[in-house]
Amino acid sequence: MSDYLPGLEGVPATESNISDIDGNKGILSYRGYPIQQLVEHSTFEETTLLLLDGDLPSAQELAIFDESLRTNRRVKFNIRTLMKALPSTGHPMEILQTAVASLGVFYPANECLTSPESCTNLDYVHNMTVKIIARMPVLVTMWEHIRNGYDPIEPRSDLSFAANFLYMLNGEEPDPIYVEIMDTCLILHAEHTINASTFAALVTGSTLASPYGVVAAAIGTLSGPLHGGANEKVIDMLEEIDNPKNAAAWLDKKLKNKEKIWGFGHREYKVKDPRATILQGLFEKFVADRGGIVGPLFETALALEAAAEDRLAAKGVFPNVDFYSGILYKEMGIPLDQFTPVFAISRAAGWLAHWREQLGDNRIFRPTQVYTGSPNRDYVLRSDRG
Ligand code: COA
Repeated sequence: MSDYLPGLEGVPATESNISDIDGNKGILSYRGYPIQQLVEHSTFEETTLLLLDGDLPSAQELAIFDESLRTNRRVKFNIRTLMKALPSTGHPMEILQTAVASLGVFYPANECLTSPESCTNLDYVHNMTVKIIARMPVLVTMWEHIRNGYDPIEPRSDLSFAANFLYMLNGEEPDPIYVEIMDTCLILHAEHTINASTFAALVTGSTLASPYGVVAAAIGTLSGPLHGGANEKVIDMLEEIDNPKNAAAWLDKKLKNKEKIWGFGHREYKVKDPRATILQGLFEKFVADRGGIVGPLFETALALEAAAEDRLAAKGVFPNVDFYSGILYKEMGIPLDQFTPVFAISRAAGWLAHWREQLGDNRIFRPTQVYTGSPNRDYVLRSDRG
């Protein structure tokens, strides 16, 4: 038997041709295209189709895909009724997980259960993928209004994916720079090899569960602070530091207590996460657009990154994607606990690309374990246990 490696570090769990990370050089590519080029030239819609199909689409293929995303934005009224019954204090990630799972009841998609061969039918897989990706932003923004006691804002089919999300969230036509930032964030978060939530999606998909079950499992996995939930924690941390001048002393105290620094470190990257670099540049562009007025959190983040360079770089611990994404979202007025749902909206593209790849050559995941328990022994009657 091979050695047990905690956290499966370095253990290949699948073969995939969707994305790749060079963690020493800080390179991330989707289907061979460096993320920087996709951010510069592509859109979330096009990047999603690239992830799903494997190649950049023709103009016509993209137009058809874009149209299908726009026409699948509405959801049944009773999903709203279901959400209204949930406590307004519920964390949006748990609500999203519930709502996505509920799509399986409102729009049954049990082809895999009734006929496993249909799982590999590309039309079925593509159809389900479009419906889920199109509806995720609707579910996220519906909850935002319902929990505040309002009716949700209906989606608009004349807006891009990013613009429509911001429109449904705020109820007004979004500023073009906000749309550009949101679109970039969606591209950056769409895919990232076999991370924890994508692995959860693969494991669930490998049992031929429905795609709603696949995405609901992945959402639950993404919600943890060691994964997608870190972006929320970053804001709490920066607010606790309060002032850039406090960053170094604050960091020393945390490291002395062996505490985590949120938004830092990554299993795959030993240099700064390329997505963090892009987001930092985007924030600077945003600040320039706002006449150079920098929010205090960004100044604090820069001071913390500089202090961490001296203390954590030797361990290969640098800012990851969550370090700057939360600051941007906060400046854009997105509620703190909706940061991870925004991540999920985007990552659904990667989850479903991997679901499709898994179904194309499926074998159920069933790893083994190293048993460390008691040797076999005889049952002791309750009366004889003393
Ligand atoms: N703050 C302080 N030290 C950190 C750190 C962080 N965020 N991330 C890693 N390290 C240190 C560890 O303490 C360890 O040091 P040691 O060798 O002296 O014990 C070393 O770096 C290796 O860390 P390890 O915990 O083994 O890395 P991992 O690959 O198991 O974990 C993460 C990766 C992402 C879970 C981890 O870096 C982390 O918890 N980061 C904060 C949460 C976060 O931002 N998550 C979002 C990821 S995109």
